Amino acid sequence: MDLSQIDLMKKELVGLFGYPVEHSLSPVMHNAAFSKLDLDYLYLPFEVDPDNLKAAVEGIKGLGLQGVNLTIPHKKAVIPYLDEVSREAELIGAVNTIKNESGKLVGYNTDGRGFVRSLAEENFELHNKNALIIGAGGAARAIAFQFGLEGVHELYITNRTLEKAKNLVCDIEEKLELKNVQALSFKTKNLKEIITEIDLLVDTTPVGMYPNFEVEPVIDPSLIHQNMVVSDLVYNPVKTSLLRTANKKGAKIVSGLGMLVHQGAIAFELWTEKKAPIKLMSEVIKDEIENNKN
Ligand SMILES: NC(=O)c1ccc[n+]([C@@H]2O[C@H](COP(=O)([O-])OP(=O)(O)OC[C@H]3O[C@@H](n4cnc5c(N)ncnc54)[C@H](OP(=O)(O)O)[C@@H]3O)[C@@H](O)[C@H]2O)c1
Repeated sequence: MDLSQIDLMKKELVGLFGYPVEHSLSPVMHNAAFSKLDLDYLYLPFEVDPDNLKAAVEGIKGLGLQGVNLTIPHKKAVIPYLDEVSREAELIGAVNTIKNESGKLVGYNTDGRGFVRSLAEENFELHNKNALIIGAGGAARAIAFQFGLEGVHELYITNRTLEKAKNLVCDIEEKLELKNVQALSFKTKNLKEIITEIDLLVDTTPVGMYPNFEVEPVIDPSLIHQNMVVSDLVYNPVKTSLLRTANKKGAKIVSGLGMLVHQGAIAFELWTEKKAPIKLMSEVIKDEIENNKN
């Protein structure tokens, strides 16, 4: 971020706590959105050492920040320092957005809802659909719980480390009282038959992320069919190797850029109570990704 461009007379501060924070696209996305709506807000990145997280969270109240986003490694660790957490954040066990509600710090998780909104933007309704998630890390967890809440028909989770997929499935079954969630190994015998019935495939692994974008997708490309929507959470490049393959197979694709924008838009709306300028936010992120390639 170009510090000379910051209007220090802005009154309402929000920001990002992470470690590191320098590659985040959130400051430029949010500041562009605030300018577009002529809002008196400024979004700043704060590099918060994990040892200082409690003090930093107390600083939200002390300095009167309107809220912050949280990124690696603070999403779980922050929970004990908050006054309240939303149902989604509690289920997922991670907070990516805090809102300072007149001195009460409330934690939210906008990742899962942001992803579902990005699907809706592409006219994909999740209710009663069959979905397969590849990966069982933090992002998969947020999405899988949201899929459970949205009334997915069958949900499959597959992961390189099968144990982690099984643990996530158990957690969803227990907390949401669902019976339609299943863990699959990469080598599951009837994977092909299962995938034939899949409406949505989501890759939540970092495979294909810049600069290592010329790689084979995690899933065997021969399993992708034209009746499925394929999404990749990696947003740099916007069209990953998986999405290029899916395109060739005639499947509809949804880039991870949509999730990035919509999870941010929900945070924006929580803080400002104004509708986020989605189109502009998306364009700003695309430009940043394009300009940062060297
Ligand atoms: N678009 C967005 O807004 C958005 C939001 C959040 C995250 N993301 C992206 O999503 C990705 C995952 O983030 P995360 O926070 O969930 O990370 P994470 O917690 O570290 O989880 C990574 C997952 O990917 C799997 N994985 C890693 N490398 C793999 C490989 N070479 N082959 C197969 N599986 C592999 C891991 O499997 P094991 O369990 O076997 O290690 C694990 O399940 C990142 O690229 C991140 O940038 C995007």
